[in-house]
Amino acid sequence: MNPSVVPFFDYPRLWLDDRDEMLEIIDQVSSTGGFIMQKALSDFEKQLADYCGSPYAVGVANATDGMEIFLEAIGIEPGDEIIISSHTMLATASAIKVAGGVPIPVDIGYDNLIDPEAVEDAITSRTVGIMPTQLNGRTCDMDSILEIANKYGLFVVEDAAQALGSKYKGKNAGTFGLASDISFFPAKVLGSFGDAGAVLVNDRRLYEKIYQIHDHGRDVNDGEVKRWGRNSRLDNIQAAILSHKLLDYEGVITRRREIASIYHKRLEQLEELKLPPSPNSDSNHFDVFQNYELSASNRDGLRQFLTKSKIGSLIQWGGTAIHQFKNLGFNQECPRTEKFFKECIMLPMNIFISNENVHYIADKVVEFYRK
Ligand SMILES: Cc1ncc(COP(=O)(O)O)c(C=O)c1O
Repeated sequence: MNPSVVPFFDYPRLWLDDRDEMLEIIDQVSSTGGFIMQKALSDFEKQLADYCGSPYAVGVANATDGMEIFLEAIGIEPGDEIIISSHTMLATASAIKVAGGVPIPVDIGYDNLIDPEAVEDAITSRTVGIMPTQLNGRTCDMDSILEIANKYGLFVVEDAAQALGSKYKGKNAGTFGLASDISFFPAKVLGSFGDAGAVLVNDRRLYEKIYQIHDHGRDVNDGEVKRWGRNSRLDNIQAAILSHKLLDYEGVITRRREIASIYHKRLEQLEELKLPPSPNSDSNHFDVFQNYELSASNRDGLRQFLTKSKIGSLIQWGGTAIHQFKNLGFNQECPRTEKFFKECIMLPMNIFISNENVHYIADKVVEFYRK
């Protein structure tokens, strides 16, 4: 890529870089006629579950469906409150709403993930669960979250849409609670050619319910209809492509961590920035850098300067935190999130950018603050 033009994410390259291999996979699956609920899908589900160290995985149409389905399977009563981070996608909150519950956003902590103290402060007699978001490819402080959940008798589920392969104390994101969702949206670390997702499940009975709901109520064992369900199945072509990509996933993570290290080395001296933790800075966390999100003083000025320099950047969720959706009925106060959302910006972070690109971006950021 021309180092002086760096898009935030080069979508065409997702296809073009592997076009021949991908065409072969599409041809293989299509030639068998196995488009829906066939071997390519069950093979991928097994591979994904093994990769994550989870007993079960179910391919679904997208991660948002995944959350709605596992919450329906767990059984939410009207008015049940589930605590989430204020810094997450609206999908985390809307899944709770669709399942009949009430999403309660709370503030973020020092690492921009849900703050366990804020979680405990938000517990009421109506709280039934906690759904932390494993954001930007980093897993939350799950010891504290599980301890709070045990203390108050709450369930834990995870929005691990951004965190496939991320670990806390050696355990994979998505395996700490009853169930979790993973997203394969194209720009995700494991990206498909369209919408796609999966649910990881820790318990056989819950797995069977989730399986039924995602396939018209049909049972995984005998195909009998056991309940009302819907169609949220993962296509076999997408599953076969994801299976293939998962084989080299460790290489992808290693590359993203290298990029994060370069950003860190080049930018850590700028006191105008607060960077995410560098890889290997904390032995409890293994981050996969879904995003490289930082705080920047004069964020909007920096963004304009980057745009002028033909470097793509993004403000997550279009710059609106969950508690700021007043039109959707939220009225919580989250001062740390509030401050962070005035300063947050994401720099390009993906395997399409070369070291030359990363240095070019760093040069421009340094130039902006030192000019
Ligand atoms: C934190 C988070 N939750 C949920 C989702 C929803 O995933 P999907 O687009 O697969 O429904 C995303 C996707 O961007 C996400 O980043």
